[in-house]
Amino acid sequence: MLAGKRILLIIGGGVAAFKSLDLIRRLRERGAEVTPVLTRAAEEFVTPLSVAALAARKVHRDLFDLTDEAEMGHIELSRAADLLVVAPATANLMGKMAAGLADDLASTLLMATDKRVLLAPAMNVRMWQHPATQRNLATLRGDGVRFAGPVDGAMACGEFGPGRLAEVPEILEAIAAALGEGPLAGRHVVVTSGPTHEPIDPVRYIANRSSGIQGTALARALAGLGARVTFVTGPATVPPPEGVQVIQVETARQMLEAVQGALPADAAVCAAAVGDWRAEAEAAQKIKKAGAVPQLALVENPDILASVARMEDGRPRLVIGFAAETENVTENARAKLARKGCDWIVANDVSASTGVMGGTENAVTLLTREGEETWPRVAKEEVGRRLAARIAVALA
Ligand code: C5P
Repeated sequence: MLAGKRILLIIGGGVAAFKSLDLIRRLRERGAEVTPVLTRAAEEFVTPLSVAALAARKVHRDLFDLTDEAEMGHIELSRAADLLVVAPATANLMGKMAAGLADDLASTLLMATDKRVLLAPAMNVRMWQHPATQRNLATLRGDGVRFAGPVDGAMACGEFGPGRLAEVPEILEAIAAALGEGPLAGRHVVVTSGPTHEPIDPVRYIANRSSGIQGTALARALAGLGARVTFVTGPATVPPPEGVQVIQVETARQMLEAVQGALPADAAVCAAAVGDWRAEAEAAQKIKKAGAVPQLALVENPDILASVARMEDGRPRLVIGFAAETENVTENARAKLARKGCDWIVANDVSASTGVMGGTENAVTLLTREGEETWPRVAKEEVGRRLAARIAVALA
């Protein structure tokens, strides 16, 4: 899927640099040409020889290498690529990029390019969380730089938290998305995610325990396969993915409006845990505790999934709902498929004992009109990838 694409891979100096060797292999397996650039610090972690051997190309290392300047200047080197990828991107490289410094080959290439840039950061958790790095991240995002990761995990330094290099498959997906490649290129998918907040008064609301992790993972995977994704999210606990159009909402009614505004689409996936009811009337002022206990009258919220699935004109070709159940999961989900008029239901058990709600793993059963299949319990990221792959097949 990356056949003929030219990737300029800048390898920064960090313990995770060794993973760039696998990245080079996987990129080449997919038909990409990889031109590697090593920073001085990176040479402490991987040898130019092993990088050159895997890339089957010369490794560029020095800004003032006169032969290179005669053959191919740094401007040309960065422009002959379809995409610049920095993996691992260190705090130092991010800082230089954000500040516009160009004092070595890597930073000069990043300044001289007119192509998209994708960073896969890797650093100690404290360095990642440092206000300077977070400031640089915001600056670089504002400059249009894309990011893959970092992810949470154990680090070589013994600490745990965000800062770990994204896994190679995730970096590959981000590369494909940045290149506008993949089986879903040219397709538009609307994804709802997260909980909704239904106001009672200016300070109180009705909510649920949805984290938005599954919807976010799915949107990320869809974008990774090249889809244009409109991500309509309630107040989730995880940040939205890279490379999607994000519409932030609070209530079910706002979510419905945003979804309708985002159509037409090839597919709609309703992964949000939409509040079924809202307070009949939102009090204009905070309800006082003094006096009688208030009686909350509830009214039903619009059903976003059903309204999209039952559209007469312009219905997305594929409409997918989720069914979070605590008992009789498959039977309830099958009934929901019919009731809502959608094409697929992704059913899961969210009983407290499963740890699914708010957790990072999910065990789902995919129900279609034709049949059903139960997937093993895996990370929500993986569920997202599998589902995205199925959607790509259905829309092919
Ligand atoms: O009816 P229930 O809430 O169990 O159905 C779950 C499915 O319906 C999910 O896909 C959810 O996103 C969607 N839904 C919706 N709007 C609602 C309620 C649920 O889109 N008001």
